[in-house]
Amino acid sequence: MLLLVTCQLMLVAVANDGSSLWLPRERNIQPSTFVKGSKGMALEELRNYYRGEVPVRLKLNRKARSGDAYIITATPERITLSSGTPSGLLYAAYDLLRMQQLGEVHSVESHPRFSLRLLNHWDNLDGSVERGYAGKSIWKWEQMQVSGKKVIMTPALRQRICDYARANASIGINGVVINNVNASPKMLSAEVLQKVQAISQLLEPYGIRTYLSINFASPKALGGLPTADPLDPQVRLWWQQKVDEIYRLMPRFGGFLVKANSEGQPGPGDYHRTHADGANMLADALQPHGGIVMWRCFVYGANHKGEDRVKQAVSEFQPLDGQFRQNVILQTKNGPLDFQPREPYSPVFDQIKQTPNMAELQITQEYTGQSRHLVYLAPMWKEFFSHVHPMRLCGIAGVANIGDDANWCGHHFSQANWYAFGRLAWNPDLSSEEIAREWLQLTFTKDEAFVRPMTEVMLASHEACVDYMMPLGLHHIFQFDHHYGPDPGGFKPDYPLEWCPVYYHQADSLGVGFDRSSTGSGATAQYREPYRSMYDKVSTCPENLLLWFHHVPWSHRMKSGLTLWEELCAHYNRGVNEVDRFHAVWQELRPLVLSADGNDARRWQEVEERLRHQQANAREWRRSCLDYFRPFAGEQSE
Ligand code: GCU
Repeated sequence: MLLLVTCQLMLVAVANDGSSLWLPRERNIQPSTFVKGSKGMALEELRNYYRGEVPVRLKLNRKARSGDAYIITATPERITLSSGTPSGLLYAAYDLLRMQQLGEVHSVESHPRFSLRLLNHWDNLDGSVERGYAGKSIWKWEQMQVSGKKVIMTPALRQRICDYARANASIGINGVVINNVNASPKMLSAEVLQKVQAISQLLEPYGIRTYLSINFASPKALGGLPTADPLDPQVRLWWQQKVDEIYRLMPRFGGFLVKANSEGQPGPGDYHRTHADGANMLADALQPHGGIVMWRCFVYGANHKGEDRVKQAVSEFQPLDGQFRQNVILQTKNGPLDFQPREPYSPVFDQIKQTPNMAELQITQEYTGQSRHLVYLAPMWKEFFSHVHPMRLCGIAGVANIGDDANWCGHHFSQANWYAFGRLAWNPDLSSEEIAREWLQLTFTKDEAFVRPMTEVMLASHEACVDYMMPLGLHHIFQFDHHYGPDPGGFKPDYPLEWCPVYYHQADSLGVGFDRSSTGSGATAQYREPYRSMYDKVSTCPENLLLWFHHVPWSHRMKSGLTLWEELCAHYNRGVNEVDRFHAVWQELRPLVLSADGNDARRWQEVEERLRHQQANAREWRRSCLDYFRPFAGEQSE
């Protein structure tokens, strides 16, 4: 009996909880003596984790290609890593470790496609995370004590932040906005800034810059001024002084992210000023320090009441194009609405031509099953890049899915979305499949009998989610506020219409879908050709976006020969069947997961429970949506 208890305790003690992510799990007992060269984090990481016996040399070559580019030259006698910057060397080191884990080291020349590869945390000062599904914020403000000029942090917190930085650097992320876009003015208080500095000092050795979301009304709310008008000299001075204070604490501070005049947030519009007035004021304060402003285009409802919500960002920002300072970047969500399971790309990327653009992707699965559904998002992001070429963007931001859960992301497979975001931010030409395979091998096992079927599951998972939630271009039929389950009949007279599901599907006895063509809201006209014409006609509109752009009769014949109603049913059924299949695959793979390193029962079980939940949720989506639409389609209940 005693023996049994002891064994169980040992099992618990070594159970893999997913906290090591995709990173090498075993640290060398003695630092490797095979690694030499330029001092810094790259050297440290390789000494700790490089396990080969081929000597490695790190060369910081200031004359080499600029930025974070690096070269790895591998011969049987020696491996040389060189880069023009310490962060480039660090990326090379992680690439080498990745190759080592994958079992094949070869020569590489690599450079990042985007110079800004950022995570956006939607973390609040009270420890909550907006749209966070993996516990509380990892920034434990209460575990940091300010004492004079010093900040004392608990060792556990320090370790967690370093682990976080390391994970980011290993996939090439080079900046983090640490707080919510719905920003508290307190974020800029002297005390909080000191704590931000303490965080930034832990991130910097990993090549990660710190950025902050700011509340536009801070001069009033925090500074006690009577106004936050961006043209008011006192307000401008307040920002200038605040920015100077920030740079005294953090000379490598990156800049600000701003959500203004959107969903109740303050902004320049409160003083009848434009977004350009607001952004430029901040840009002027940041410019002498080399800082940037990332100004979000996610605005609706303020100046364009009554206009189709998906048109409003272009209506608002296109006339301002050309008026922004050089250090302003417009940050726009991939789709024109709000991170739906499938959206067309945002036409802001077509219409903003003179101002640098950044794309904002959502890693946290607000609208894709949160941390309960296995949904691998790389295929969705690749779909976006196939319409908006990465060359048109100067940066990419991902809304983080990270919290203080042991496994960081809630669902073990949600880690893959963090990983995929970083890998695509470095190289958007990588395929979803390559990334999934890589992640599975690094995170679970290299056994092909596991990797092959699970890669296939991951690749199919996004389309399955679209199918059981909102196929054929349906969108925003989520329950209010939490955005988890279905509510196709959702309508609240006291809510803005553009938060209500019925506004988005427009179902009636004639058909279903939102007419955004030239006969409807005219949103199609915001797109460049060939998309404008293609989306405008039912006959040429891709069927997976049909109900996004058109109100289509229930009896419409789809390419399959089925009527729209039949096709809708087929999609919901397919979505449910797919999740059943994913679950069956996972069950079959149990022995392989468990034998991976002998201690994976916990991860297998946690994924298993979530897949069961996802099966039940997929059925709920199908039942709720088809029951709701059926009477409109003139069909009898089953
Ligand atoms: C969505 C999300 C909000 C978030 C907003 C934004 O609407 O539900 O929680 O604040 O996007 O991106 O600003």
